[in-house]
Amino acid sequence: MTTRRLVLTRSAALLGAASSGLLIPAHAQSNKIRIGLMLPYTGTFAQLGQACDNGFRMALEEKGNKLGGREVEFFKVDDESEPSKGVENANKLVQRDKVDVLIGTVHSGVQMGIHKVARETGVLNIIPNAGMHAATRALCAPNVFRTSFTNSQPTLALGKAMMAKGHKKAVWITWKYAAGDEAGEGFKEGYLAAGGTIVKELGLPFPNVEFQALLTEIASIKPDAVACFFSGGGASKFIRDYAAAGLKGKIPLYGSGFLTEGLLDDDLAPSAQGIMTTLHYSTSLATKRNDAFRLEYAKKFKMQPDVYAVQGYDAGQLLLQGASAVNGDLSNKKALYAAMEAAVIDSPRGKWTMSKAHNPVQDMYLREVKGKENVVLGVAAKALSDSGVGCKLG
Ligand code: BEZ
Repeated sequence: MTTRRLVLTRSAALLGAASSGLLIPAHAQSNKIRIGLMLPYTGTFAQLGQACDNGFRMALEEKGNKLGGREVEFFKVDDESEPSKGVENANKLVQRDKVDVLIGTVHSGVQMGIHKVARETGVLNIIPNAGMHAATRALCAPNVFRTSFTNSQPTLALGKAMMAKGHKKAVWITWKYAAGDEAGEGFKEGYLAAGGTIVKELGLPFPNVEFQALLTEIASIKPDAVACFFSGGGASKFIRDYAAAGLKGKIPLYGSGFLTEGLLDDDLAPSAQGIMTTLHYSTSLATKRNDAFRLEYAKKFKMQPDVYAVQGYDAGQLLLQGASAVNGDLSNKKALYAAMEAAVIDSPRGKWTMSKAHNPVQDMYLREVKGKENVVLGVAAKALSDSGVGCKLG
């Protein structure tokens, strides 16, 4: 249906309802597409949430803030990375604000709440970060799409890179929640397959940052290397504490790229030199597409983008492609989802496509901290699909 026809159809329906004396809800009187942003704007993942928000809005602004010809309206909820409020917060957007699409979130535990609401209500959900496996594996759903990763994707290629450096015995350390545990699964799979041994797995609850006792334990174990999952403010504290404990330069530190992503300022960079990570983006990627993205982002937000900004930006690109295919009629779900499934996203990270289970098939880069950059050393895994079985859609 064209936008003009859509507007006329809606107007006729509204007129009919008005003449029959029915009360018309305020949201139905507007032809705007209602977009809900459920992200952490406070707490240890605040910077990540804001970056997703920035990237998403930037993608839409590039196209005049229109989706398939229709104007957009934003609704926002701070999810605080608090899993116990996940369902309630998602319902604020879906039931109260009647959003057409929910963009969120960052934290895997909170995503569980969004996922429950998305499956029960059928609202379109685009995940701009949280990597919980279930969303695109056991509980995958036709109305849920992800523009980021599964938690085990970035760490899958890490072990091979460590073995290439001769690090045969490693300690794994993480926050103990879905993202950390699933990142650990990916690491284990890749590292064991490459011939490595995990001598100890250590953990602490999210978002605890009391690392001292665990670092003392690592010093006494003396592994060849340490691999980890941390992100945001907690990652920054871990890197600092690792250096302060005298481990930097003695036991090489590796991680999924979230460890150093968006954090390398003047204060942190000295403690982070030499850390090697695997991730699907680096600001230092030398491509025209990334250069143009960086320039525009820096102009707009007076800072450099990071992976979270790219994932938010790609959530916007995916929605733009889907909405354009249905001329803004998001109720045409069959055609909308088919277009989103077939989308090729021209991302600052490199072009990527959607797997059958709605998760990116993408390259993973090996990166090393040099100065204030995650310098790309090469491609650690080409066109990596999620390692899980996934679900078969359509
Ligand atoms: C997660 O909870 O899924 C997550 C959070 C930050 C970075 C990566 C994953």
